[in-house]
Amino acid sequence: MSDIKIAPSILSADFANLGEEVRRIDEAGADYIHVDVMDGHFVPNITIGPDVVKALRPHTKKTFDVHLMISPVDPYIESFAEAGADIITIHPEAGAHYHRTLQAIKAMGKKAGISLNPGTPTSVLDHVMDLVDLVLVMTVNPGFGGQKFIPLLDKIKDVHARIQASGRDIDLEVDGGVNEDTAKQVIAAGANVLVAGTATFKGGPEHYAENIKKLRG
Ligand code: DX5
Ligand code: ZN
Repeated sequence: MSDIKIAPSILSADFANLGEEVRRIDEAGADYIHVDVMDGHFVPNITIGPDVVKALRPHTKKTFDVHLMISPVDPYIESFAEAGADIITIHPEAGAHYHRTLQAIKAMGKKAGISLNPGTPTSVLDHVMDLVDLVLVMTVNPGFGGQKFIPLLDKIKDVHARIQASGRDIDLEVDGGVNEDTAKQVIAAGANVLVAGTATFKGGPEHYAENIKKLRG
């Protein structure tokens, strides 16, 4: 049994039928439901807010993996926590005090994630490893689905080594351009959670289960 988790990004789902799409990927074997939240300011695209997360919550019991690409982020932590997020991931550039933001997520009883843009050094992890439950390595610049994978494999290995050294149970998630081929590379570099939008939803609902299975490697 593979210990790789697949987190389909609903950014590539049919937005007019999100509840049904979430039920479909749940049944197709998704481990986490990856929710990309964008504000048109921190990233050049606008997606969804806490009310949509709340509306989707009754459609699945799977882990809601909420990726916040918003700035400021602190004023919204409570709403996403109350809406039903299980993991809340933030970008260190989204506020002046990301240690405090991570503390706020933990204080809400949620798992805390930190996301590294392609240009963000792994040294941002230096003093927060005791607070994080997930490190997300972005292999595209955030904002849109369907972009080309940036092969930051040494960076993923570096994060993997840091997680091992921490002795803590921390997910290493990779997000952006993950498909059947790049999945193998990121798994070999140490990733255990793969976000996949385009690769999960391609071909329509009858392909979701097969698409997810292929990504597990
Ligand atoms: C990018 C998002 C990703 C993205 C993944 O800003 O964080 O989750 O939608 O999409 P694909 O898998 O299509 O690259
Ligand atoms: Zn994402």
